[in-house]
Amino acid sequence: MNYFSRTKTAFEQYRDNENALTLGIETSCDETAAAVLRGGREVLSMAVHTQIPVHRLYGGVVPEIASRSHTERITAVVDEAIKNAGVSLGDIGAVAVTSAPGLIGALLVGVSFAKGIALAKDIPYLGVNHIEGHIAANYLTYADLEPPFMCLVASGGHSHIVLVKDYNEFELVGRTRDDAAGEAFDKVARALSLPYPGGPEVEKLARSGNERAYPFHTPFNSDTSNFDFSFSGVKTAVVNLIHNAAQKGESIDRADLAASFQYSLVETLSKKAVAAALKYNMNTLALAGGVSANAALRERLQKECDASGIRFCRPDMRFCTDNAAMIACQGYYRMKRGERSDLDLNPSAESFLSR
Ligand code: KG4
Ligand code: ZN
Repeated sequence: MNYFSRTKTAFEQYRDNENALTLGIETSCDETAAAVLRGGREVLSMAVHTQIPVHRLYGGVVPEIASRSHTERITAVVDEAIKNAGVSLGDIGAVAVTSAPGLIGALLVGVSFAKGIALAKDIPYLGVNHIEGHIAANYLTYADLEPPFMCLVASGGHSHIVLVKDYNEFELVGRTRDDAAGEAFDKVARALSLPYPGGPEVEKLARSGNERAYPFHTPFNSDTSNFDFSFSGVKTAVVNLIHNAAQKGESIDRADLAASFQYSLVETLSKKAVAAALKYNMNTLALAGGVSANAALRERLQKECDASGIRFCRPDMRFCTDNAAMIACQGYYRMKRGERSDLDLNPSAESFLSR
């Protein structure tokens, strides 16, 4: 009997039990995270070991170091999540683990660990798409939120406008043509000599700056008749400004630059996302991904949505950046629909979302 047929009863038990416990595991980038969920939305515990201080020394994530750190920490992080939930490993009904997209060596650690638990405890497990997980962070924040809705996903690796048709059905309606929003924040931060990860640092600096000091707008990003955007031009303009000023021995106002750059991204993302929601007749717009922690973006989207009569949803701060509760949540809904992975699941660096 293979793993699939042995765990059949366990899978049925999990699917029939609304209060089943799901263990989530996330190791796609620089956070080793685990969480336990009861049902689809009740977070019993979240544990995380962040590698940011190590990667900060290099100004960005070093994949090899990330994989090794996940290997060292994953057992303790999963143990902590289970202990803090007040349960034992034997109580877990299924495991949900990020299997794409991300750093391949990092993903392999979480996926292999999840397979080990599934095999040892005879329980089902499922590989979950990280971007879908970010979207699911909104279900953890709003008990009543259900598809369909439009979602703006802005993270370090991806920037998408996604039509969420159902828990397991997505249509990509817009995307960045080049840099992701978080990536642009990180690169501008680096040019401004701010530490990694740059998003929160640029946001802090921008608070004391004038957002109109440098107009960074491009016709492509202002055009709301299509939902794609491009951030590499804005990023390069900022970097060139800094270099040109340095060459001429001129000083620039770093806070003004940070504020103007942030304004340009926020303007583009919010205008296009709201236009997409209206075009597809969606009365809810959600925000997801690490950049959803940005206060300027949250405030602007709230305003734009209020003006257009659209409900605006954004994750609680603890669910904005990478975490395992969002992965457990998305895994729960997909497993409820009958999906599960077999032991030959191979993680992928690429996203499943394409068009
Ligand atoms: O979703 P996430 O945690 O990881 C990926 O899946 O990529 O996103 C991380 C990204 C980084 O680029 C980081 O600079 C950005 O999210 N970020 C922010 C803020 N907090 C995190 N960007 C702007 N403002 C923030 N407050
Ligand atoms: Zn992420």
